[in-house]
Amino acid sequence: MPNTSDKKIEPTVIIIFGANGDLTKRKIIPALYNLFLENHLPEKFAIIATSRTKFTDEKYRNDLLEGINEFSRTGKAKKEQWAEFSKNISYQAADIKDVASYNEFHTRITELKNEWKENPSVLYYCAVSPDLFCTIAENISKSKLENKKDSTRIIIEKPFGKDLGSAKTLNEDLLNIFDEKQIYRIDHYLGKEVVQNVMAFRFANSIMEPLWNRTHIEHVQISVTEKIGVEDRGSYFDHAGILRDMIQNHLLQLLCIIAMEPPVNFDADLVRDRKVDVLKAMRKILPGTIDNIAVRGQYGAGWVEGKEVPGYRDEVDVTEDSNTETYAAMKLHIDNWRWQGVPFYLRTGKRLYESASHIIIQFREVPHNIFNNDERNLPKANRLIISIQPDMAIKFQLQSKTPGLEMMLNTVDMTFDYSGKAKTETPEAYETLLLDVIFGDQTLFMRADQVEAAWEAVMPILDYWEKNQMTNFPNYPANSWGPENAEALIAKDGFHWINIPHKKK
Ligand code: BG6
Repeated sequence: MPNTSDKKIEPTVIIIFGANGDLTKRKIIPALYNLFLENHLPEKFAIIATSRTKFTDEKYRNDLLEGINEFSRTGKAKKEQWAEFSKNISYQAADIKDVASYNEFHTRITELKNEWKENPSVLYYCAVSPDLFCTIAENISKSKLENKKDSTRIIIEKPFGKDLGSAKTLNEDLLNIFDEKQIYRIDHYLGKEVVQNVMAFRFANSIMEPLWNRTHIEHVQISVTEKIGVEDRGSYFDHAGILRDMIQNHLLQLLCIIAMEPPVNFDADLVRDRKVDVLKAMRKILPGTIDNIAVRGQYGAGWVEGKEVPGYRDEVDVTEDSNTETYAAMKLHIDNWRWQGVPFYLRTGKRLYESASHIIIQFREVPHNIFNNDERNLPKANRLIISIQPDMAIKFQLQSKTPGLEMMLNTVDMTFDYSGKAKTETPEAYETLLLDVIFGDQTLFMRADQVEAAWEAVMPILDYWEKNQMTNFPNYPANSWGPENAEALIAKDGFHWINIPHKKK
């Protein structure tokens, strides 16, 4: 999160591996284009996109334009602005497994250096299948390509490993070639606007800190539900499952931001140190307890918005007797002074009733009710509701007197809402993250020990679920709120999952 106004940006070359992939078209190029429109990109920049397929620059740029027109938050590109931006994009067909291709990137970078008369920062963006991350790093190292410690960076998409062992190996391999300061491991949830605001909300308001602990908070819910199924990602997802795909990264990172201690300052390492502390303080999950604290599910067929949708096992590239979970819910504990005894409930799943990501901090009830004991009039516990998407808002729920002659209580909201202009002007996660890489700010990226600690936290469940197959999959229909035993998981403790209705568009 650099303060862009007071920093000079070096000329920058971005090499995108995986140029023909969905991520490049949907996220990376629209993000770079919006940064360009808002004058955040350096004056001198070049994007070299590469994948195996042969395209002319013109054909490739036209494909990207379609992506912008469909996916950019700023809508369709204007002709002149697109022309200005896209002249900086060149396409190079290459086999990224072949070290010889890297010499061609080198030639292009040298040409740019000569033209600009300055040495650029060079960013390598690995938007490719994870089994190619190391190949790319090794070929960068074997070829003549740039690898200056202070001006070369490598961006690694998720999934970062498929378990603790493979994540460690990947870290070792990357760290043989790059310094930690050069490696930007993406978890795009950290770039979401409201997620970043949690830090401001917690650490820039003195009224929050005295309340932010076990004395006042009863429990926390972190919920990321999706309406979509696995779409065309069956072959990846069937080997991953939702625990790897969402919990190990996105949901645990949200948990860290809620639970972390205040860092000394906003330095990237100090912030990440405090997040790692949370992961290290997570109560170790013992295999014998897993059936009591974690629930998995897999979606069956159903109807979504008037259309019949297949069950998970009938999705393309999914095996017909797959045991892969598309839903997970769990109860976690953080064993430290601040959070002892406060349960954190996490849930996420595909083909659920609604797409929504939110965090709910449920405060304790008042210690004594002075109002009449009419059931309808019992004061309800306060809640802080952090809505990440699709609505973006931070809302305090308080009790208030209903206007009238009687003393009747009512729940009212104090809301900070990003509706209207604030919403359309809010950068997408990828804009924030890419700008951070350009500036060399690692605060919102995963450090090696952070990724490993997150894997360590989920490994017992991952191992247990792999060894113990489910016999009742599919166990929830599409367009529902997930398996029934997910309700039971939280109901055992006297709570229920809280769903936040969206504003109608
Ligand atoms: C990705 C997962 O990391 O996050 C996907 O691989 C998931 O399965 C996506 O759909 C959700 O991201 P967002 O930003 O749409 O909530």
